Amino acid sequence: MAGRFVVFEGPDGSGKSTALAAVAERLRGRGEPVLATREPGGSEAAEVLRTALLTPALGRAPVASQLLLITAARLAHLEQTVRPALREGCTVLCDRYVDSSHVYQCSLGGVSHEALEALNAQWEIPPADLRLYFELPAEVALARLESRPDGNRMDAADATAWTRVARAYAEQMRRNPRGLRRVDASLDPQAVVARILEILDDEGA
Ligand SMILES: Nc1ncnc2c1ncn2[C@@H]1O[C@H](COP(=O)(O)OP(=O)(O)OP(=O)(O)O)[C@@H](O)[C@H]1O
Ligand SMILES: [Mg+2]
Repeated sequence: MAGRFVVFEGPDGSGKSTALAAVAERLRGRGEPVLATREPGGSEAAEVLRTALLTPALGRAPVASQLLLITAARLAHLEQTVRPALREGCTVLCDRYVDSSHVYQCSLGGVSHEALEALNAQWEIPPADLRLYFELPAEVALARLESRPDGNRMDAADATAWTRVARAYAEQMRRNPRGLRRVDASLDPQAVVARILEILDDEGA
């Protein structure tokens, strides 16, 4: 039986990674096969590309170069990790996917959405079965990011940048509602996890 490909999307600090780990644990606890993974990365080759993407030099490269590398990592991840797990019947939970590229490289980075869609079509990058969109007000997200253990303070410019990302996410979800489910990410962590499990059950195994 083929599994399901579920992606976690939403702005920085919305609680995606926290919820993903907890949902994976709960599903495993029920004896369901689960693969928890992330982008960019998630396979040997894709992790090499992730390391490259995180270097400052790549940060200064044209956004299109970054998008091509992200797409290269995405292809490797799909081929080496996601598709094999789906064939085995796993629920694949992936931290960020194509929507993140639409937001960061297209809406904010200036690459056209059509260019990304063309790449996806050319390389047969599949849509996720389910897109969980973590929605929350700016004040809540910024307060959370402030209390992260690294202790880096947020300034007004960071808050403005966060809001631009959140708006771009909202626009992306309006543009493409396919497989979209909204998650109220301002709830406490247990409630977020419970809501996601409900959605997964609701959408059928
Ligand atoms: N539901 C929640 N309620 C309160 N705090 C939360 C909740 N979920 C996560 N947090 C805390 O908020 C911070 C950000 O969470 P997390 O790293 O999971 O977000 P993220 O969406 O993965 O962010 P990024 O996009 O930057 O990776 C962490 O300090 C985490 O412990
Ligand atoms: Mg995260």
